[in-house]
Amino acid sequence: MTLPTLTLNDGHSIPTLGFGTYPLRGEPGVVAIRTAIDAGNRLLDTAFNYDNEGAVGRAIAASGVPREEFYVTSKLPGRYHPYEAATNAIRESTWRLGLEYLDLYLIHWPNPIEGKYVEAWQALVDAREAGIVRSIGVSNFTLEHLSAIEAATGVRPAVNQIELHPYFPQEEQLAAHKELGIVTEAWSPIGKGSAVREEPVIQELAARHGVSPTQLILRWHVQRGVIPIPKSANAQRQAENLDVFGFELSDDDVAAITALGRPDGRLFDGDPNHHQEM
Ligand SMILES: NC(=O)c1ccc[n+]([C@@H]2O[C@H](COP(=O)([O-])OP(=O)(O)OC[C@H]3O[C@@H](n4cnc5c(N)ncnc54)[C@H](OP(=O)(O)O)[C@@H]3O)[C@@H](O)[C@H]2O)c1
Repeated sequence: MTLPTLTLNDGHSIPTLGFGTYPLRGEPGVVAIRTAIDAGNRLLDTAFNYDNEGAVGRAIAASGVPREEFYVTSKLPGRYHPYEAATNAIRESTWRLGLEYLDLYLIHWPNPIEGKYVEAWQALVDAREAGIVRSIGVSNFTLEHLSAIEAATGVRPAVNQIELHPYFPQEEQLAAHKELGIVTEAWSPIGKGSAVREEPVIQELAARHGVSPTQLILRWHVQRGVIPIPKSANAQRQAENLDVFGFELSDDDVAAITALGRPDGRLFDGDPNHHQEM
């Protein structure tokens, strides 16, 4: 199967659905990532801090799928925001993955209390110039953080990966991204196995469309123009999570799912203005 793609503001294409790899590590991690690839996943989302770039690289190498068919993303940890450290970490990520280049590199969290994310962004801009990464973006950036990096460097991120699921639909941030031409990726897209799948409206709409609650939620993301990156260690659920392109939600269905949103809908205290992740 070939996944549909979106075009980023730098002209590169990205699959409309991806596979989250946290916390798949070691030999069992390689096996799970292999089955995810066999099922048809090509966008693989990892991070320096997941301690599994090696496992992801090994699964890619063992898959027999040509490198150019993959879309590999990794992320820069907070402790490596200073320019020199960031430059080294990006290179280290490619070595750990065993790849010549990465398709997308993100700043994992802005860590505004440390206040070094503009330097980190400059390192990503330069890594793109050097051809080590094809596209660059951020994760967990507020609109204020986005405008700070663009003002300092003149370069707008291609992607912002944020917490986004029916309990936290991020309507304002999503609208702002669309205005800016930034593609949104959703982390914990199905609410990390939380109660969201049990919500009556999710159950009812899933039954009406003849799909699982998880497929319904993933389709909601796709129709909102958001790239979900669900994680599953299970081959059957991995295949289920890719099978979301054969049905269509109405505008009312999309609105009913979005209406599950609530101000305190974050899964943990992950407000990017305060959360520090080194
Ligand atoms: N940028 C960031 O700051 C950030 C933060 C968090 C996560 N992420 C990324 O986002 C990815 C996904 O987020 P996440 O892992 O937190 O949450 P998630 O993908 O919303 O949920 C994963 C959970 O759902 C279960 N699951 C998956 N498919 C299912 C299905 N079809 N039916 C029932 N249960 C299912 C999984 O269990 P099984 O494995 O047993 O199937 C797992 O417990 C991560 O892997 C990571 O790559 C990024």
